[in-house]
Amino acid sequence: MARRYIVQTFGCQMNVHDSRRIEEVLHGEGYAPTEDAALADLIVVNTCSVREKAEHKLMSLLGTLRPYKETEREVRIAVAGCVAQQEGERLLKKAPLIDLVLGPDNIPELPRLLRELDGGAPPAVRTEFDLADPQFLVARPRGGGEVTSFVTVMKGCDERCTFCIVPTTRGSERYRPADAIVGEVAEMAAGGVREVTLLGQTVNSWFDPSELEAKPRSKAAPSGSQFADLLRRIAREVPELARLRYTSPHPRHLTDALIAAHAELPLLPRHVHLPVQSGSDRVLKRMSRRYTRRLYAERTAKLKEAAPGLTLSTDIIVGFPGETEEDFEETLSLVREVGFVSAFCFKYSPRPSTPALKLGDDVPEAVKDERLQRLFEVVEGQQRVHLKSLVGTRQEVLVEGPNDASVNRYSGRSGRHEIVHLEAPEGIDPTGQLVEVTIEKAFRHSLLGRMDGATLPERPVRRPRKKLPLLGADA
Ligand code: 5AD
Repeated sequence: MARRYIVQTFGCQMNVHDSRRIEEVLHGEGYAPTEDAALADLIVVNTCSVREKAEHKLMSLLGTLRPYKETEREVRIAVAGCVAQQEGERLLKKAPLIDLVLGPDNIPELPRLLRELDGGAPPAVRTEFDLADPQFLVARPRGGGEVTSFVTVMKGCDERCTFCIVPTTRGSERYRPADAIVGEVAEMAAGGVREVTLLGQTVNSWFDPSELEAKPRSKAAPSGSQFADLLRRIAREVPELARLRYTSPHPRHLTDALIAAHAELPLLPRHVHLPVQSGSDRVLKRMSRRYTRRLYAERTAKLKEAAPGLTLSTDIIVGFPGETEEDFEETLSLVREVGFVSAFCFKYSPRPSTPALKLGDDVPEAVKDERLQRLFEVVEGQQRVHLKSLVGTRQEVLVEGPNDASVNRYSGRSGRHEIVHLEAPEGIDPTGQLVEVTIEKAFRHSLLGRMDGATLPERPVRRPRKKLPLLGADA
């Protein structure tokens, strides 16, 4: 019988995407998936180290895995991802039950390492970056009606935000050629994927690496316009795609060209997640974010003007070293000024090898807690008002799949990325379809809508669809 594996993923979308690559290389090696760790011959934990809490999760998970190692069966445990990259050998010492430590660039080596273990080799650590010859593992459409998927455009990060461990765990920036990106998006769409999210640590700083030799780019003078060109090219060459998203952009690369692309391309949803981190110039400077509050507010205002109805969400850190009450109030006021409809809010946690370590960690835990709470309240309030304002409106929803197909309940995302639950007419599976929905109710973080069976999607769907005979414009 085929050996079985399970992958547990923590952290960002990059990690979710890497887990797919891990699964693919394991399938290539004859492993089969299982949902039950007790049945697995190989347990892979794909880790995150961006905040302290994420790392603690790994340690407590490893504790729960111990009994599996103590059974008669040979069970292997591999730790991949950013904690693996950051800790390397140290991880084997801290947790001797680990068989493999594998950095994000070393996923292709997993089959070989497993074979070596089978041959009696000792636990191994592989955490080399592929700086000289960057590899971008191609994501294959999974089949089986996958509606959304990721495509990597760059990896690593050359920003030096003082709080952030990513440059250590993901290495310096490496960019993928445009042809490879567009080709992969086209292949995804041909396989039935309707929404692609382009992935990169500073995704909108992307440029085509083949142009680097011809005209070296100055990082000090961000162009970012190449990213806008990439979006346009995908829109042109992959017309069957319904939505094209990207994450995470950096505010200093939100160029006029990118703003113009948002005005031009209906393919881009009317929502951007744009991490701001703080609303205080003093803190932004100490974070080395390389923009001011004013620049952020002006650029986003321009973006909203270019793409009416566009909403913004963000990431915010509270309690960064030296953050005063006044600094924090600046953050609250920026949240109101920009009108974020949602935000991921974090308490600052000191990370190994980051420049901010030397600033100390001087905001007391209780103050961080209190600021986090106040921030949540403002953000939640804005989210509530926003979601309520949508009741009674019609929205175009990309249906991602069933919540409970037995009672015709599905969910998807609006053109502004709000989660919309809906009930489909009897006998219709709208998965993968753009459907017109009237919003009937706002929940705390999502919407409930009624699918208007009589209407056709606004954008005709060209792809012939097998499962959905009744709804397509081409039916
Ligand atoms: N402490 C708290 N939050 C952090 N983030 C990154 N590093 C830290 C840290 N040391 C947050 C930022 C980033 C998100 C992915 O995680 O807000 O945008």
